[in-house]
Amino acid sequence: MTILCQLATWPGETTASPVDDLVAALRALDDDLTEDLVVVGPDAATDDALRFTAHLRIDRPTVGVILVRRHVDVELLTEALRAGVREVVTAGDDAALLAACDRSRALSGHARAIDEPAATHHGKVVTVFAAKGGCGKTTFAINLAAALAAGGDQRVCVLDLDLAFGDVAINVQLEPVRTISDALPMAGHLDMTGAASLLTPYRPGLDMLLAPVAPGDAEKIPAALVGELLAVLRGMFDFIVVDTPAQFSEHVLTAMDVSDHHVLLTTPDTPALKNMRIALDMLDLLSYSRDIRSVVLNRSDSKVGLSSSDVERVVRSPISAQVPSSRNVPISINKGTPIVIATPTHPVSQAISRFARERLLSQPAPARHKPFAVRRGAGRR
Ligand SMILES: Nc1ncnc2c1ncn2[C@@H]1O[C@H](COP(=O)(O)OP(=O)(O)OP(=O)(O)O)[C@@H](O)[C@H]1O
Ligand SMILES: [Mg+2]
Repeated sequence: MTILCQLATWPGETTASPVDDLVAALRALDDDLTEDLVVVGPDAATDDALRFTAHLRIDRPTVGVILVRRHVDVELLTEALRAGVREVVTAGDDAALLAACDRSRALSGHARAIDEPAATHHGKVVTVFAAKGGCGKTTFAINLAAALAAGGDQRVCVLDLDLAFGDVAINVQLEPVRTISDALPMAGHLDMTGAASLLTPYRPGLDMLLAPVAPGDAEKIPAALVGELLAVLRGMFDFIVVDTPAQFSEHVLTAMDVSDHHVLLTTPDTPALKNMRIALDMLDLLSYSRDIRSVVLNRSDSKVGLSSSDVERVVRSPISAQVPSSRNVPISINKGTPIVIATPTHPVSQAISRFARERLLSQPAPARHKPFAVRRGAGRR
């Protein structure tokens, strides 16, 4: 079957299901996991169609999208290919449309066959975010990864998405010989062998994918590469913990789109809480599910007069974990060994390990959210 979105006439002989818009197309895809072709008609806005395609490329890579446009030019073709559209066909050219559909179905068949082994291993992506710098994202991300890997059963990777100022490497005293920049030549055809070549091993079961080091390298990383990387890493690891910069960059949103869990970090001070409130509103606006969200209060015992219930009231959200403040945290960073590894019995280590156990290790994979629907107008392409 083929989903026809805003396409007035269908020249094919096979049955097809017409839908009114792209949101309905997503719903139809959700209802039928074997569906592998969407034809987007000329009345759907190009920007929306490309966002829809980019979303599917990560969420349902075996589904092909064919774009029918009244005018086709080089600029459109370039943008369409970049988003992952399989073919662009001129409206009214029925023969070209049917041939494109045949080619796309054949490609989907191959993609499904290749995808099958990887599909058996579906690691969880956990994005650690805070809307204000210095809240402890990197510290929490690294220690969370160490806690997840601690039992020895889980393979865990930390992805440093703080592309401009990433400091995962320095926190664990690793030489950034290989970084995400080395993925650039593999963009569009990254596989597990390629992804493995980007990793820096840290401890058994714990690898790091480090941020670029050379000035200007961060800007060269396209957001789509992040989606591609995470899709491949899922097939290799049980957990991918993503460390982020303190802003909703396109790269961060791409990671959040495919994340199974969002950890929102704050400290108990007014500026951090104000930013956290704005971040939570933003996540709601983007229709990320609250079911996959945890608010974590770092330095929870800081003597600043805000109790955890004050904090809960301000952020209008329950707190999932409280990590105390301790000078042993910066000491552990200076020594290059996360506190969870150096001193597992420390209250900071125990708080993070409990969070890993209760919120991630013992939880079944939650239903994935569908953020695309309300993403319109949020400033992303
Ligand atoms: N629970 C804690 N107790 C004491 N110090 C902490 C704690 N958590 C983080 N820190 C310290 O706070 C500082 C900032 O932490 P970190 O680098 O993890 O924050 P970040 O949110 O990643 O910052 P940035 O936005 O710059 O990336 C570090 O010096 C770290 O040692
Ligand atoms: Mg950081």
